[in-house]
Amino acid sequence: MIELHIATEPTDELVAAFRRLLPQLSSSAAPLDRDALAKILGSPTNIVLIARDDGIVVGTLTLVLYLVPTGVRARIEDVVVDASARGRGVGEAMIREALRLAATRGAKTVDLTSNSTRVAANQLYQRIGFEPRETHAYRYVLKNKAK
Ligand SMILES: CC(C)(COP(=O)(O)OP(=O)(O)OC[C@H]1O[C@@H](n2cnc3c(N)ncnc32)[C@H](O)[C@@H]1OP(=O)(O)O)[C@@H](O)C(=O)NCCC(=O)NCCS
Repeated sequence: MIELHIATEPTDELVAAFRRLLPQLSSSAAPLDRDALAKILGSPTNIVLIARDDGIVVGTLTLVLYLVPTGVRARIEDVVVDASARGRGVGEAMIREALRLAATRGAKTVDLTSNSTRVAANQLYQRIGFEPRETHAYRYVLKNKAK
């Protein structure tokens, strides 16, 4: 049975789960230690959803909510489901829960980006009802490390 909850504590189990899941999302993501995970879970803008299947952590998603002059913004980030648990609706369940949470916190829209090479993810988002936006996504790569 799939269960969702909001992570609050960087337990050994969650640290291990992120060690397992993050490489399946990004080959360049640095592994998270307990302190790093604690900061992420403790950030007031973040809601980190955890999905369990029969008690085992199989997926995570981070909903980011922040306030700007035009209103509450919501973004979904870092969606990943363990390869052994894909295709059974875990991803969809996490996204739908994130949409529900965003609505209860006053967001009118929820944004995400997904590289077009991520075929399964793009199919899932569009099936749920995300629509491509007519906008340019820009990124400036910072060369200097923050001190
Ligand atoms: C994207 C991801 C989170 C989906 O998780 P999931 O638990 O398998 O999601 P669901 O079971 O709810 O739905 C999966 C959908 O992808 C489809 N899918 C799975 N593999 C696919 C493939 N190779 N090509 C096309 N579609 C595929 C499934 O058919 C299903 O869509 P459908 O129900 O319309 O058929 C998961 O595949 C994943 O973690 N991928 C690697 C990380 C990633 O790309 N994250 C997204 C970052 S933007």
